[in-house]
Amino acid sequence: MSQEYSFHQPVMLAEVLSFLPKKKKITYLDMTLGRAGHASAILEKLSIGSTFYGVDRDCEALSYSKKRLEVYEKNISLNYLHSTFSDAIPKLKKQGVNGVDFLLMDIGVSSPQFDDPKRGFSYRFDAPLDMRMNQQDSLTAKEIINTYSKEELIRVFRDLGECKDYYHVVEKILTVRQEKEISTTFELVDLIKENVSYQTLKKEGHPAKQFFLGLRYEVNGEIAQLKKGLQEAISFLNSKGRLVIITFNSEEDKIVKDLFKSVTSSAHKDKYKTKDVEDYTLLTKKPLLPTQQEIEENHRAKPSILRALERN
Ligand SMILES: C[S@@+](CC[C@H](N)C(=O)[O-])C[C@H]1O[C@@H](n2cnc3c(N)ncnc32)[C@H](O)[C@@H]1O
Repeated sequence: MSQEYSFHQPVMLAEVLSFLPKKKKITYLDMTLGRAGHASAILEKLSIGSTFYGVDRDCEALSYSKKRLEVYEKNISLNYLHSTFSDAIPKLKKQGVNGVDFLLMDIGVSSPQFDDPKRGFSYRFDAPLDMRMNQQDSLTAKEIINTYSKEELIRVFRDLGECKDYYHVVEKILTVRQEKEISTTFELVDLIKENVSYQTLKKEGHPAKQFFLGLRYEVNGEIAQLKKGLQEAISFLNSKGRLVIITFNSEEDKIVKDLFKSVTSSAHKDKYKTKDVEDYTLLTKKPLLPTQQEIEENHRAKPSILRALERN
């Protein structure tokens, strides 16, 4: 494992901690363990006899975090699962875990994933086009770029990446790949820069940003993961159990907002008013955003959006 790219500054940590349940002997599930930035701060607050489950689809993240959290193993039962978060809860149920008191989802990519050039997530480094969060998965960004049909590439860039200038980029990919494989991030970045409009080139932010986001979403199935994982997470809360979720753009946040609304609105209550109705309370009427000070200290926190919910 590369220790060089191991640092991840947890975002909105104080806000996350403020949602911990009052009782401190709890079962805590971290669905996006990453480098255990949040998890180590949370475990620090829990009482002896608590139980922790850490999930990540990235093997490097899991092995790093297992080591980092060893210091808590005397007092807390530590358990790990290499899994996507959409599969994690069914797997935990099979192990006899029936619910949790605190569940954290801090979705997206961690700093070590972005900053390690060999992972191919960043348009800032020249690297093989990869972008897999789980290095054991088979679909890579390179395969998408070199084998997807025109319609599929349009879906990836226009629908997932919300790129305005997708058309000429897709046309160019189709032409170039007839001659030779497109294999590196910089080949793709150059191709994008040469085929987007002057306005896109002049806009704030890197012209390849949304293209890379669309590709990353496709490689890792991130939108489907979010929808299924969040649904599972909500129904896995014990009574008074709390779910905190941090997303990084308005598209992701809308999925959270709509799902939270659907389980807390009066329409939902009326429709399902039965004895064993599932009932939840929003803990954040409006989403929480990072403070100016946090953004100054960690620019990656800037787009983060936090919402929280409690099961009644
Ligand atoms: C933003 S980082 C979390 C950082 C962590 N909270 C910390 O403080 O170190 C997101 C992590 O979630 C993992 N991840 C993203 N989507 C996932 C999914 N669908 N299933 C499992 N893990 C996922 C990524 O591999 C990454 O390690």
